[in-house]
Amino acid sequence: MTAQRSHLSPSPQPAPPAQPAPAAQPPLLETKGLSRTFGHGEHAVHAVKQVSFHIQPGEIAAVVGESGSGKSTLARLILRLLEPTAGQILLQGRDVTHLHRSQDLKAYWRKVQGVFQDPFAAVNQFYTNRRVLEKPFQLLDRKPPRAERDRRVESALVEVGLDPSDVLNKGPHQLSGGQLQRIMIARALVADPALLIADEPTSMLDASLRVTVLNLLMDLRARHAMGILFITHDLGQAFYISDRILVMYRGELVEQGTVAEIASNPQHEYTRRLLADVPRLHAWGVEAA
Ligand SMILES: Nc1ncnc2c1ncn2[C@@H]1O[C@H](COP(=O)(O)OP(=O)(O)OP(=O)(O)O)[C@@H](O)[C@H]1O
Ligand SMILES: [Mg+2]
Repeated sequence: MTAQRSHLSPSPQPAPPAQPAPAAQPPLLETKGLSRTFGHGEHAVHAVKQVSFHIQPGEIAAVVGESGSGKSTLARLILRLLEPTAGQILLQGRDVTHLHRSQDLKAYWRKVQGVFQDPFAAVNQFYTNRRVLEKPFQLLDRKPPRAERDRRVESALVEVGLDPSDVLNKGPHQLSGGQLQRIMIARALVADPALLIADEPTSMLDASLRVTVLNLLMDLRARHAMGILFITHDLGQAFYISDRILVMYRGELVEQGTVAEIASNPQHEYTRRLLADVPRLHAWGVEAA
């Protein structure tokens, strides 16, 4: 069960509508009762159980939960890398739960890109970084001409703070973890997605680099109005980066709310425990505790 909260109303005096309001935009992404079980019978693992949430365009929502709570399974379901056992996924109001044709999946991945925990595991070590960064062009029906590919790759690199001439002809393994993770973010940007799923993108980085990557993701959201689903086991990072927090516990979404709501009035016992483990919330820009 998700603890639902009453809606906050930041604008106190809305003018009465002079004419019928236009139909509300559907959320950027919505899941309804999304579930995934591994194995059968008494050995079944219910990795993701009846997860329902939505994310709006330009919103950063953080999924927080301990190891094994189902965060990566949820990410892989949304990225359509894994089949759900039950439930639905809607992108911009369109049911994408059962896309199978390669053409449809490619169109989906142009809009929904992923960045993962271990950038070294996510790339072919024999490729150059240029080739890594050009992968999203395979999602297009026709590959753009060389000049346009170069322009898009270089502009993505500049956005993540890397010098194209410094990295393009090197291999991924000649870079640091922080540099390669920025390449992976740039690769996602080359596709110009509406939604980025970032599954623990900072957990293999040194503490000093973590905030750099969080700030980068926040900049990208501001510049591209991109929605971001940011997955972490660290409530501090979730507070720092997100607008809204989704708490997962043993495969279930047990609570969701704004940063202020979660920080000042946690509903679920597990959320309270997580809060107790974040000793200095104000260090992450959160005042209430
Ligand atoms: N392919 C799989 N086959 C069988 N069980 C799996 C598979 N993938 C995940 N699981 C199980 O599903 C549960 C959720 O795993 P998941 O990787 O989604 O958790 P997580 O929250 O991402 O954990 P972590 O913080 O360690 O990354 C775990 O019990 C895991 O062992
Ligand atoms: Mg995981």
